[in-house]
Amino acid sequence: MEIFIVFSTGIVGLVLAFAVYMYLFIFNVRPKRKITECDDKDCVRCKKYTEIKEKAVVLYRNYIDDCDSDLLRIQSSVTDINKTRHNRKQCPNVFFMESLKSQPWPSETNSDIEQDVNTLEKNISMIQSDFVRIMDSSEDHWLINNTPNGFWEVFHLVNQGNVVEKNTQLVPKTYDLIKNLKSAMLNTVFGNVAFSVVYPGTTISDHYGPTNIRLRCHLGLQTSPFCSIVVDGQKKSWRNGKGILFDDSYLHGVEYTHDVKDENKYRAVLMMDMWHPDITKEEQKILSYMFPP
Ligand SMILES: *[C@@H]1O[C@H](CO)[C@@H](O)[C@H](O)[C@H]1NC(C)=O
Ligand SMILES: *[C@@H]1O[C@H](CO)[C@@H](O)[C@H](O)[C@H]1NC(C)=O
Repeated sequence: MEIFIVFSTGIVGLVLAFAVYMYLFIFNVRPKRKITECDDKDCVRCKKYTEIKEKAVVLYRNYIDDCDSDLLRIQSSVTDINKTRHNRKQCPNVFFMESLKSQPWPSETNSDIEQDVNTLEKNISMIQSDFVRIMDSSEDHWLINNTPNGFWEVFHLVNQGNVVEKNTQLVPKTYDLIKNLKSAMLNTVFGNVAFSVVYPGTTISDHYGPTNIRLRCHLGLQTSPFCSIVVDGQKKSWRNGKGILFDDSYLHGVEYTHDVKDENKYRAVLMMDMWHPDITKEEQKILSYMFPP
């Protein structure tokens, strides 16, 4: 009897171990690496909205001694900086700039942005090979963002205006390319460049970005028909080697429906922020001053 119990426990144990192994084999497609949780108290995504606004108002007043008419819409946006917006579709939680032509999926931009997206697309194989290398990197270069389920990991080259040198060193060619783009928003708290990876079964809850002064570009590196992004109710998917632009001050979220048969294993994009096409160089200057990294 005892022998039988020992024997059957052993069998049950083996079966369980095998089931766990198969489960991990099928579902856990994430590379094994240590991931650092975002614990930055100054993170725009995480909080500090009021502080950033108050500082921006002070910096604006420092700046405008020789205000010209170009800056009028910034002036009135600063005056209204605390105003609650009642537009549920577009609701940036730090800074709303008035009189910008806003669309969730901009149908036309300007020649700088078009050229930049084109440059990214043309250099796709170089960016891909940089990406493949960092996916294999086992050190803590990645941050994990909170999601209700699944995994969303980012490898920042620029994080809220700060260059992450330990990361750019690993992808110098991609970083060089981005630094030289005309519309890249690099020097403000709103500017980010990152490789962004989402795994099957992940939901990125609907949220608003911090401002409407930027457009977000996603360059598809590895895409999946099971993963899509919805901006203001309009759904799109990525394509390998293609850039898409959206205004992330509109409500948006990502869904990667689970499918174990998905050969793609994960969705990867190079994400970067670009100056909104309606913002003049002069306005870029004052906005960079008002919202430093
Ligand atoms: C915005 O609100 C803060 C208090 O939260 C206040 O100190 C500040 O003066 C207000 N700024 C403007 C421009 O109304
Ligand atoms: C990017 O692509 C352009 C156009 O094809 C090319 O001239 C340039 O050398 C490429 N840059 C890099 C860093 O590969």
